[in-house]
Amino acid sequence: MPEPNGMITHVEDIGWENRLAARARRMQSSVIRELLKLTSQPDIISFAGGLPAPDFFPIREVQEACRYILQHHGPIALQYSPTEGYQPLKEWLAETMSKYGIWVESDNIMMVNGSQQALDLVGKLFVDPDTCVVCSRPTYLGAIQAWDAYEARYCTVPMDEDGMIVEELPALLDKGKHRPRFVYVLPNFHNPAGTTLSQSRREQLAEIARRYDLVIIEDDPYGELRFEGADLTPLFRLAPERTIYLSTFSKTLAPGFRLAWVVAPKPIITRLVQAKQGADLNTGAFIQMVANDVCQRGILRQHVRRLRNVYRSRRDAMVDALQEHMPGGVTWTVPQGGLFLWVRTSDQIDTREFMKTAIAAKVAFVPGFAFYPGEQGGEHSMRMNFSYCNEETINEGIYRLGVAMKKELAGA
Ligand SMILES: Cc1ncc(COP(=O)(O)O)c(C=O)c1O
Repeated sequence: MPEPNGMITHVEDIGWENRLAARARRMQSSVIRELLKLTSQPDIISFAGGLPAPDFFPIREVQEACRYILQHHGPIALQYSPTEGYQPLKEWLAETMSKYGIWVESDNIMMVNGSQQALDLVGKLFVDPDTCVVCSRPTYLGAIQAWDAYEARYCTVPMDEDGMIVEELPALLDKGKHRPRFVYVLPNFHNPAGTTLSQSRREQLAEIARRYDLVIIEDDPYGELRFEGADLTPLFRLAPERTIYLSTFSKTLAPGFRLAWVVAPKPIITRLVQAKQGADLNTGAFIQMVANDVCQRGILRQHVRRLRNVYRSRRDAMVDALQEHMPGGVTWTVPQGGLFLWVRTSDQIDTREFMKTAIAAKVAFVPGFAFYPGEQGGEHSMRMNFSYCNEETINEGIYRLGVAMKKELAGA
């Protein structure tokens, strides 16, 4: 069939790869994004993505908020807007975060297109080629992807059931030739490990950061999704002069909003604003005003209360199913909140290889290696998401995984 004028399906490749900047050659597609493509087939039970439960999105409430905003504030909502973000929403956030001990003014907050953008802006501001960044081992894959683009080097700290073993930080810092630009911490319901940094480790980390004059990047998308136990002190509260705190509406409201925020001392907010201007001028006013309406009417608060119950029940279903269907020697974390638990298999299973067997059995997870920056690790681990599927599907998926694993072990 003749192509219409201008179609470029069959043009010669002029060697695009060779024309890229050196830093762009380091960029790779995220393993998770690639996996999500694979697992989007309808008959696969996917524990792979970090997806909230779609059946609980507050669609009607968002629809009403959209109608209200367009009717009453249309000209502002559809216009360019300040890079810092929509003032009433920032004021709401400042007030809401005070219940966690984060006492800030709205000028300490900048709105972004998802925390992922904040991670990128942090890289843009702080990471020179070969700059050392400290993070846990494992860590959030998206942060590695963001900072790889700025040619970061990673100094990693192992984890246990109380989160990053911060006691190992001083030795790492004394040994290193260069002072790291920052320490990246996921304090609540770690992605992927499911663990929470204990109160005493938070205090130690703040003290170490002061002693070694380090910046802390505190990434907290899941803190609001606590199913049980008491909230712990944010690092921002313990070291407000040196912490950049990130949180997002992705897991509490909906990731389709692409709306998150950064809290930081004012001098760094000014720099983040400059970095964001170069990226996208501003986060859309419309989406911020809709989110603000949902927040101000108390809908978000109600919704989060509901999500905590739904996700607690799904976590329990996954833990029960693991108990019932997994072969002996397999262990897992039982997170007090969030979206993920971390499973350790026996040494005979390489989860990267086992992934293929699992996909054939129509069930998916993320193999642990994906969360280890530039090094070995996670070969016998996997990240399992429990928020996306309902209890019945979770049980069926874990059953399939258990059967596949037992077969693999019998053949090994
Ligand atoms: C630890 C962590 N940081 C950042 C993000 C990105 O979130 P957002 O949707 O706000 O970009 C995620 C998403 O899963 C995450 O788990």
